Amino acid sequence: MLSYAGIANPYALGQYSVEHNAKVLQRYRFIHESLLRISAGHLPARENWDLKVGLAKHLYEDAEAVDQLRVRITELRTSSAVLQHEPDAALSLLMEELIHAGSDLELAVGIYRVIKPALLDVYKRHKSTTQQIVDQPTIRLLRTLILDLEEQLAWGEEMIVHLEQLGLSQDGAMPFEKHLSALLAAAGGIDGTQPKSPELPHRLRSHTAYQLPLKSARDPRSMGPTTWARTSVAQPPADPVQRALLDKMRVRQEELTAAELIAGVLYSQKNMPWEFYRDLARHLWDEVRHALFGQAALEEEGIDWMSRPQYTSDYDVNAPKIPGAQYTWLSIGIEEGAMKRPGKAGEYEFCRDEAKHPLMAQFQDYDWADEVVHANLGRKWSTELIGEDIGFVREIAKKELEHFWKEVRAAQQQWNEQLA
Ligand SMILES: [Fe+2]
Ligand SMILES: [Fe+2]
Repeated sequence: MLSYAGIANPYALGQYSVEHNAKVLQRYRFIHESLLRISAGHLPARENWDLKVGLAKHLYEDAEAVDQLRVRITELRTSSAVLQHEPDAALSLLMEELIHAGSDLELAVGIYRVIKPALLDVYKRHKSTTQQIVDQPTIRLLRTLILDLEEQLAWGEEMIVHLEQLGLSQDGAMPFEKHLSALLAAAGGIDGTQPKSPELPHRLRSHTAYQLPLKSARDPRSMGPTTWARTSVAQPPADPVQRALLDKMRVRQEELTAAELIAGVLYSQKNMPWEFYRDLARHLWDEVRHALFGQAALEEEGIDWMSRPQYTSDYDVNAPKIPGAQYTWLSIGIEEGAMKRPGKAGEYEFCRDEAKHPLMAQFQDYDWADEVVHANLGRKWSTELIGEDIGFVREIAKKELEHFWKEVRAAQQQWNEQLA
């Protein structure tokens, strides 16, 4: 159709007034923002490697959704003050109970079988029944959210079936799924338009606050034990360049532990501006992608990395620290530090010129680009978290690095002695 820029049904009356639209978008925002926080809180606690990776990608997509929804809400005669509010007590309870998921399967079912399918249904309905001219900016936004959700749900359903087949618990996640579905119904569904009962459900698990684990988990059934030492590959090649290349692949693969540290900061640091959480969601997903660089490079070489010991120092050694110290350690201590030569530039040049490995060279090229962004995030947010200028924050980073290397050196020494 040439007229109306191709917009269909231009005369149809829409189902959404400005006020109602702002109200439901505020609920969507709250749900994506809650799922971002819940997924971050669970990342170090969950066991399955592929589940961790999926959660990281999807929490980044949730953050992007929140970012767009926040803008659209304030375009609808709505003060940005509402962006701090929780729109519905029953929705809040749903999220508070979801974070108490007790297993990989329960969390996956809560996100990918209860909440996100309901989101997808409502977004499709919203997109098609809102007035197509007046609400085109919302329609465009929902279209991207629908694309993300469809991908997430296809993956999520496969993950749930995989976890169910492992059969780790007798009745699976059925009782938890029923409980969460009842809470969603009590909230009148995603957009609150379904009939609500004045009888509000009770808490089952959220009487106490969720606790981040002190040590990050790896699936003991499919992976090697966690360790604070670098353990490379089972049969290191004699050639020193090849050996250094494989070491590097493993160090990349082990970056999941850096993502888990960011997840802990994202979850536990309260009262920061929204942009902080959005930036950390991206930072977190970048570190998981770096882990995938290593996974892909190792698997392409036919190397079994999963049964090797799994390095978890970044999260575990820093877990007792306050979030500001954790983020300073990573973003200023490690990442800003890697901007000095040889650092990230040297890693890239090694893979390109010495090891002559095109795939790893490409990975390191982008790894370096990402780390430039992360060092900038560090200068922006570590100073905010600590409340001091960058000079003082760099002094903190030095102390944090000293403490970290002391712990890790001891573990490395033990590992080396075991090998000798
Ligand atoms: Fe990284
Ligand atoms: Fe990084």
